[in-house]
Amino acid sequence: MHSIEAVIIAPLDGFNKRPSNATDEAIVSALSTSTEISRSGAEISLREVTKDTVRTICNLHVSESQKQFVAPNAVSIAEAHFTEEAWFRAIYADEVPVGFVMLWENPTEGRYFLWRFMIDERFQERGYGRRALELAIHHVKENSVAKELRLTYFKGDGSPQAFYEKMGFADTGKILDGEHEMMRAL
Ligand SMILES: CC(C)(COP(=O)(O)OP(=O)(O)OC[C@H]1O[C@@H](n2cnc3c(N)ncnc32)[C@H](O)[C@@H]1OP(=O)(O)O)[C@@H](O)C(=O)NCCC(=O)NCCS
Repeated sequence: MHSIEAVIIAPLDGFNKRPSNATDEAIVSALSTSTEISRSGAEISLREVTKDTVRTICNLHVSESQKQFVAPNAVSIAEAHFTEEAWFRAIYADEVPVGFVMLWENPTEGRYFLWRFMIDERFQERGYGRRALELAIHHVKENSVAKELRLTYFKGDGSPQAFYEKMGFADTGKILDGEHEMMRAL
């Protein structure tokens, strides 16, 4: 999922004014949106990225063959700071940072896109991706009247298509900038 420009209709004219002055783990923990237990037993939470954690989150990475499917977290966080509609969180398994999720969201209009999503290669296939996506969906449902969540993905070896199908997404048949669109009703 390299870009969302093709599906954004609203002008991206604002700066992200999200405060990032949290300084310690206690605050980070208090900022968790919610938690879920993964199949490995770890508690999965979505936490704000702070000045203390940003480097760690930027260092999370997918495998060489998966790099075609998602932008590096540093690029995503940089883009988020120039996109008012961006909402992003680090994914933690207990106290270990394991991934990153970013939405493009317009709660007023109820339009939501899963923009970036990754679990570090060292932590994949443990149920963390499933739990993290459920938490992101919980965030959407909690904050808007959105009836659907959309995303785009690239096909190819190791494509996340089957993962998203398991999560209830289905292809819409649209191709945007070479990426295939999927949608899930909420
Ligand atoms: C896609 C991704 C986020 C999945 O995270 P994960 O933590 O490995 O997924 P989970 O362990 O929660 O898997 C949930 C289910 O999906 C399946 N699954 C996960 N990745 C899959 C893939 N690439 N292809 C097919 N099935 C996959 C798992 O086997 C599991 O199936 P099960 O419930 O029947 O056991 C992770 O593989 C990743 O970061 N990939 C690289 C980046 C990427 O493609 N991001 C998406 C951009 S659009």
